[in-house]
Amino acid sequence: MQSLPDMDQHQFAQWQALLENRTGMRITEQRKVFLQTSVGMRMRELGLSDYQNYYDQVIEHPPGGMEWVLLVDRLTVQETSFFRHPASFELVRDHLSQQATKGKTIELWSVGCSTGEEPYSLAMLAQDTLSDTGCYFGITATDISVPALAKARQGIFSERKVEALSRERAAQYFTLHEKGQYQVIAELRDRVCFSQVNVLELGKTPMYGMDVIYCQNLLIYFRRWRRKEILNRLAERLAPGGILVVGLGEVVDWCHPDLEPVEDNATLAFRKRVSG
Ligand SMILES: C[S@@+](CC[C@H](N)C(=O)[O-])C[C@H]1O[C@@H](n2cnc3c(N)ncnc32)[C@H](O)[C@@H]1O
Repeated sequence: MQSLPDMDQHQFAQWQALLENRTGMRITEQRKVFLQTSVGMRMRELGLSDYQNYYDQVIEHPPGGMEWVLLVDRLTVQETSFFRHPASFELVRDHLSQQATKGKTIELWSVGCSTGEEPYSLAMLAQDTLSDTGCYFGITATDISVPALAKARQGIFSERKVEALSRERAAQYFTLHEKGQYQVIAELRDRVCFSQVNVLELGKTPMYGMDVIYCQNLLIYFRRWRRKEILNRLAERLAPGGILVVGLGEVVDWCHPDLEPVEDNATLAFRKRVSG
């Protein structure tokens, strides 16, 4: 297959700006090869050889258009795993135990949920923690990538991924789908509602009164001012007493008048004041 020429600096800057304006993600100079390869692969599928020509086609259509949906999926980093940062999940477990009162519904939100490992981890944790309490729970899981969400909804994972869980958890929450693949049980899948949300457009989403907002490994791709803006929007969506759990080191000097930091060196989390 014939390889495409290198993107020139002007073309690179155009693609960088388009991606950052529409998704918030910054592709730095060091990741130019990644951008070029991902865009180039898509162009070859379309039989195109001119970056400018493809760029013009992409911007002709709104961000909801099919081509943009496909391209965003190629350009986002979707790496994830079950219980990726154990200490953060421990924090959520403690919070759920404290919140559990009979008849209450606890709402959790996985922001930037990728292919589903994170929201299903939250669902397993909530089920373990709340099953005997008379508490109900629901998980909302959102991402910008439509193909990642489609995969997440199916809840089918490779044996290698499921092996990272304890034997008891794997046996309790997964069934064999086909050789080498396991599916999350329907009872747990039913607790998770997946939907497409761009975190740059949180104003359009109706989620409020969240008891847990879990947002990890998403903000790291954004500029610092944008990370803070998004956290401000997420803070508004918390219920009084709810927690916002971010990845360690993903934001350094952010604070919000209605939130107080959770004292725990192993995690980065904030709790909404009850009177806030
Ligand atoms: C590295 S994954 C993190 C997955 C999971 N949160 C974790 O920590 O394992 C980052 C996810 O953020 C999503 N993403 C990137 N930009 C986004 C945006 N503007 N709005 C919503 N999701 C976005 C990507 O599609 C990707 O699935």
